[in-house]
Amino acid sequence: MAKIKLLFVCLGNICRSPLAQAIMLDYVNKNGLAHKFEIDSVGTCSYHVGKHPDPRAVAALNSNGLNINHVARQIQFGDIEYYDYILVMDHRNYEDVTSLTTNKELLKKVFLLRSFDEMSVNNYNVPDPFYGLDDAFDEVISICGRSINGFMQFLEKQ
Ligand code: 4NP
Repeated sequence: MAKIKLLFVCLGNICRSPLAQAIMLDYVNKNGLAHKFEIDSVGTCSYHVGKHPDPRAVAALNSNGLNINHVARQIQFGDIEYYDYILVMDHRNYEDVTSLTTNKELLKKVFLLRSFDEMSVNNYNVPDPFYGLDDAFDEVISICGRSINGFMQFLEKQ
């Protein structure tokens, strides 16, 4: 059976989307689902292409017993064709990704990750931790964890 292909997207691909990728990888590994999924992450901008995740993101993952091995890259149109679900971190990412195509079928693949967070109150943004304090990374981990649980429940119903 074809794998379900998931792409997490943020601005720089060094903070939020690699965190989400790591949490998703952990989820599928712990639930015996790794063979069913292909998981990657990208940024909408090119500033950090080729870089490893921000050390603060890695430290926050490590303190939760997780890790990530990733090199930043920028989203391309082909990613929207290739992946089944494109899970973006905020409305700015949503605008940037959806501006890459006018194809209505492809646009249906794009979701705000936090729309699956049962505790999200209003705007569905995963806050950008880049200019924040270190605990901003822990908050992103909590938000992504809840959102990924919600997304997996959504997938089960598909
Ligand atoms: P990310 O965070 O989109 O979660 O990877 C950011 C990384 C870099 C910048 C902004 C946000 N930057 O302005 O360089």
